[in-house]
Amino acid sequence: MLWLKALHLIFMVTWFAGLFYLPRLFVYHAMTEDKAGSERFKIMERKLYFGIMTPGMVLTLVFGLWMLSDYAWEVYKTSAWLHIKLSLIALLVIYHLLCLKWLLAFKRDENTHSHVFYRWINEIPVFFLIVIILLATVKPFQ
Ligand code: HEM
Repeated sequence: MLWLKALHLIFMVTWFAGLFYLPRLFVYHAMTEDKAGSERFKIMERKLYFGIMTPGMVLTLVFGLWMLSDYAWEVYKTSAWLHIKLSLIALLVIYHLLCLKWLLAFKRDENTHSHVFYRWINEIPVFFLIVIILLATVKPFQ
């Protein structure tokens, strides 16, 4: 059903906006030395994670699973692309939860990672975005 696919894609973009921006906030937060600046980053990180990213993730998964149960599992259950896509999504959810771990460390002023660490972390969602979109649209390995 095309409405489900449209909603799936809208919330996927919302989720990825956060997956790209939150580690960027961690980069600047890790470079911040003043208390006021750090407190401001904490508010931005909390609002992004709980107000945008997590609802985006949940609704992407809800509409994806809805499409699977509606028609897609019957059509694609033997297609390798779908199984690879679902495995990558499981890893992406773990990445999302790791972001929560780093967010909570910043909240308690216990971050131990450098801004360089978060710069590298920031690249991980790029890989997921490219590979998952290629799998879902090109559907290689039928
Ligand atoms: C539990 C998570 C997910 C499930 C169960 C799921 C499942 C699905 C299903 C069943 C379709 C319809 C396929 C079709 O009819 O051709 C679809 C479409 C799509 N999904 Fe997902 N998806 C999930 C997460 C994601 C994520 C995280 C992304 C992006 C990174 C994504 C990107 C897409 C795209 C781009 C399409 C449109 C493909 C097309 O019509 O050409 N999905 N998804």
